[in-house]
Amino acid sequence: MTDNLIRVDNLTMHFPLTRGVLANLFAREKKFVRAVDGVSFTIRKGEVLGLVGESGSGKTTTGRLILKLLEPTSGEVFYRGRAISSFSGKEMEGLREKMQVIFQDPYASLSPRMSIGKAISHPLRIHGLADGTLARDMTLTIMEKVGLTPASFLYRKYPHQVSGGQRQRVVIARALVTSPDFVVADEPIAMADVSVRSMILELMVRLKEEFDLTYLFITHDLATCKYICDHIAIMYLGRIVEIGPLQEVFRNPVHPYTATLLDAVPVPDPRFRRTLPMPRGEIPSPIDPPPGCSFHPRCSYAVEACRIQDPPLVDTGGEHSVACPVRTGRT
Ligand SMILES: Nc1ncnc2c1ncn2[C@@H]1O[C@H](COP(=O)(O)OP(=O)(O)O)[C@@H](O)[C@H]1O
Ligand SMILES: [Mg+2]
Repeated sequence: MTDNLIRVDNLTMHFPLTRGVLANLFAREKKFVRAVDGVSFTIRKGEVLGLVGESGSGKTTTGRLILKLLEPTSGEVFYRGRAISSFSGKEMEGLREKMQVIFQDPYASLSPRMSIGKAISHPLRIHGLADGTLARDMTLTIMEKVGLTPASFLYRKYPHQVSGGQRQRVVIARALVTSPDFVVADEPIAMADVSVRSMILELMVRLKEEFDLTYLFITHDLATCKYICDHIAIMYLGRIVEIGPLQEVFRNPVHPYTATLLDAVPVPDPRFRRTLPMPRGEIPSPIDPPPGCSFHPRCSYAVEACRIQDPPLVDTGGEHSVACPVRTGRT
């Protein structure tokens, strides 16, 4: 029996680029958005893997592929060692209770016409787990657990009648009401007020312990990883460029992209000097990504080989893998 709860193997999602009929007719080749381009990692039971990257790097798409909200172009997702592509319809229904998602924008993911109580108990009803007073009791219990109190008062309220922080708690409660063991949290605090961010993070850490959860924690902000992640994976243009235990990557970032991201993390000491420049220029388009290492146009370490060779993710020891032959001394 494996202790890997989730394993993704060479996951790829290339979205066909939709254009006008004429443009398609005259196009020499079909173009794709390489949103996710050969991503592999494992998440052990009880662990939090942070998936970190700039906007457009493919984080949300990776999360949606794991939850089977999208069919991958190629590659496979394993849940408890079993390929989810082999799950029957009935088994997939069961899996949907076990794998849940917390989206970035609680307002957008809640129906304005559904009361908070109805919204949280909705998954119980659609999965046929509970109805009537049982569903209500289960909902009130989870509301208490996430700090939506007094629960019976808030049960009848609508999303617009509560604060932003409370709405995020509603989304968390709704994700947890079916007793999942794996949760994709897609930038769960990005839209929250600064004042409630740390509270939401603390809540997520507490709930993880209490409900024995495993998280994929998606963020564009490396700094927040410190509070919740055990491992982090740095994503750039659909690929993982560095992955490893959080402490190890923070202490010893090897990929130039990771190093510059870490350098931008605010530090309390104002005498601290930035040692590395931010990456030059903007993140390129995933439609025609640069050949070779896709980070090379922005990298101050790039050598000729980086423009040609696709750098593989290489284990540097201690579960720490890096896709940079220059910095790992493999050129
Ligand atoms: N359904 C889709 N169709 C076409 N392109 C998409 C679709 N979803 C995402 N993309 C593109 O894939 C890339 C990665 O997007 P996303 O996974 O949302 O990145 P992130 O969450 O890191 O910001 C982006 O260039 C985005 O525009
Ligand atoms: Mg996203």
